Amino acid sequence: MAQPIDPHSSTNGKQTDRVYIFDTTLRDGEQSPGISLNVGEKLEIAHQLARLGVDVIEAGFPITSPGDFEAVEAIAKQVEGPVICGLARTASQDIDAAWNAIKHSERPRIHTFISTSDIHIEHQLQTTREDVKGQAKAAVAHAKDYCDDVEFSPMDATRADVEFTAEVCKVAVEEGATTINIPDTVGYTMPHEYVELFAELYRLVPELKDVVVSVHCHDDLGLAVANSFAGLTAGARQVECAVNGIGERAGNASLEEIVMLLRTRRTSVGLDTNLNTHEIARTSRLVSRLTGYAVQPNKAIVGRNAFAHESGIHQDGVLKERTTYEIMDARTVGLETNSIVLGKHSGRHALRQALEDLGYKVSGQALNTAFKRFKEIADRKKHVTAMDLEALVTDEIRDQSEAYNLASFEVHDSSSQEPSARVSVTTPDGETVAGEGTGDGAVDALLQAINAATGIPAVLKEYHVDAVTQDTDALGEVSVLVELDGKLASGQGVSTDTLEASARAYLRGVSNALTGVTTAAGPLTVTEPAETNAD
Ligand code: KIV
Ligand code: ZN
Repeated sequence: MAQPIDPHSSTNGKQTDRVYIFDTTLRDGEQSPGISLNVGEKLEIAHQLARLGVDVIEAGFPITSPGDFEAVEAIAKQVEGPVICGLARTASQDIDAAWNAIKHSERPRIHTFISTSDIHIEHQLQTTREDVKGQAKAAVAHAKDYCDDVEFSPMDATRADVEFTAEVCKVAVEEGATTINIPDTVGYTMPHEYVELFAELYRLVPELKDVVVSVHCHDDLGLAVANSFAGLTAGARQVECAVNGIGERAGNASLEEIVMLLRTRRTSVGLDTNLNTHEIARTSRLVSRLTGYAVQPNKAIVGRNAFAHESGIHQDGVLKERTTYEIMDARTVGLETNSIVLGKHSGRHALRQALEDLGYKVSGQALNTAFKRFKEIADRKKHVTAMDLEALVTDEIRDQSEAYNLASFEVHDSSSQEPSARVSVTTPDGETVAGEGTGDGAVDALLQAINAATGIPAVLKEYHVDAVTQDTDALGEVSVLVELDGKLASGQGVSTDTLEASARAYLRGVSNALTGVTTAAGPLTVTEPAETNAD
């Protein structure tokens, strides 16, 4: 059996200053409204998380849907390096599903949870404290039958009676849990309270010194990172977090913020992670692109303006000496990758080499497709940068086999006439269908023409457009949320032409809706049974 992470891995036998990063982008993060990732997209994110060097990837919640099971299983089979973790409630079928999904990983972990707060016990679980304790005990014991590495979380711990939470944690440790995670499920606690909670738990359960203690904080009051940091100062050594801070409601603690806090202030704090911080910016862009969740410009570490200086005084200072107004070097988080790499005369070999330099191994048919798209873009755009290539590859990695694809389009728009469009689309069967449409604007006309061509009455619910780089000939990146038969699905598209990117994004959204890659919960109808949603 694979060995769990050892909290006493230093030679002197003391708790080390190493903090483990438990990434939950693909589980808690993926539960955000409007996110629908297919198996290929989840795998791509998991591979990037492994390159980033996270210690644990929580790959999903296998019991919730066949799609989630399949994604966790694929990640467990294909992603090497990090521990691969599957989430399970205490029910034995949840634990069986989690194990079956992760068992092929070299380093599997089962994470099981049950609430210890009276609010949850009385109103949601409608049971008793004794029953909760029994369920926690049985769940950890059952998970231990499968694997050594078992994590237990007393959900809503920050609103629970600390003595009862301690009793449940004690039982979980006695049954063999190797990580105990103390979640601030509803983002309610404050840093000093969280510190006090840890102190009390360590006092009541001295056995916690022998396991990894973990923080899991939500950002409802904007305190997720501050609370996670407080938990670390109180003795925790694992942080559960998500790239770009995505997650239910206001999200989870942001991975890049907690990691850069520890790295930048490590001499004061005495704690650090093993992350390769140079991969942070790229990981952030990939997650943003595939989830359709834009990063706010002033977001710490990964926002477009996080290293930009607007005021004259600041610019003057930075030009004289960078450290006058910068506490981190942008290169440390991988923000120097926008150098020009290719042009329209570059060949297949140069493209393959550039992609390899970016960490993508592309060959065979995938390279042919990427090369075709690259040529189309290089014909229209003078310089193809590393960021453009990244956007292009992300756009091309999606499994297109069951998808509707754009073959060609034509749009007429003027101030004196109603916009109209004509499209032809390739169906998943390889047939080409055509349609025409009019609308309020050029994008609307184009999407109406697509609906006429496919005969699918999808409705656009959300639309965002962004530029990949700052140049005037930048690639446009469009993200949409599409509704079909009461289900929501997202889609993204990239092109030098925003209309083409819109059509590609819309067709991808429609294809996702048809193949069941829909969002867990959307701003409209909630399709997921409420009891399988864990914050
Ligand atoms: O927020 C929470 O309590 C969770 C648990 C499943 C750990 O996500
Ligand atoms: Zn959570």
